[in-house]
Amino acid sequence: MSEKGNVGKLDFPFGVDFDLVHGIMKDPQNHVVRLASSMRGHYKDAKALEALVALGDPVHYEVFEYRIPEQPGQLQFCISKTYPGTVGGECFMTKGHYHKVPDTAEIYLCLRGEGWMLMKRSDGSAARERFLPGRMVYVPPLWGHRTVNSGDEPLISFCVYPGEAGHNYGDIEKEGFPERVFKRSGKVEFVPSSKAG
Ligand code: F6R
Ligand code: ZN
Repeated sequence: MSEKGNVGKLDFPFGVDFDLVHGIMKDPQNHVVRLASSMRGHYKDAKALEALVALGDPVHYEVFEYRIPEQPGQLQFCISKTYPGTVGGECFMTKGHYHKVPDTAEIYLCLRGEGWMLMKRSDGSAARERFLPGRMVYVPPLWGHRTVNSGDEPLISFCVYPGEAGHNYGDIEKEGFPERVFKRSGKVEFVPSSKAG
């Protein structure tokens, strides 16, 4: 039964239709679009990014969401879709964030495409996990996370995280992640950010 009128209050069960083959959420309530121009400061090669902006400012990623109250006990969910492409050889990616409530985890179930989840903690530890269709990536509490598309088609995941988690972009624009992902002549390379600049 569809009870869309009750979704805002979240005091009544509801269902959402997905096309899992194509990674589409039907009738999302919120749609976030990040263009190349919203990614300034994130890629190593700022000039290559400006060239891309001048060439038409393509979409780097989109997020499709429902409006769930930001409260403990609720669950946020979304489809995260990162497009293929490179900026000076560096693979298209999300900005990346910690959660505002730091001790909240998240799961990403990859539906399409391929890539990597880069993760870091503020104590300096780092990790990466592979995104492949059917593979789930678990992001534990306290780990900042960034999706990187190293493939040739959109990288699409279904994400679920606690209602109150929120986003904290914190040190990410300034510090980035400990490594960057490049793709040159079809070969994926992980380069320590200290070396990539
Ligand atoms: C939510 C979450 C995803 C991302 C989305 C965009 O906690 O991890 O929904 O928000 O993939 O990434 P950011 O927020 O880093 O721009
Ligand atoms: Zn998150």
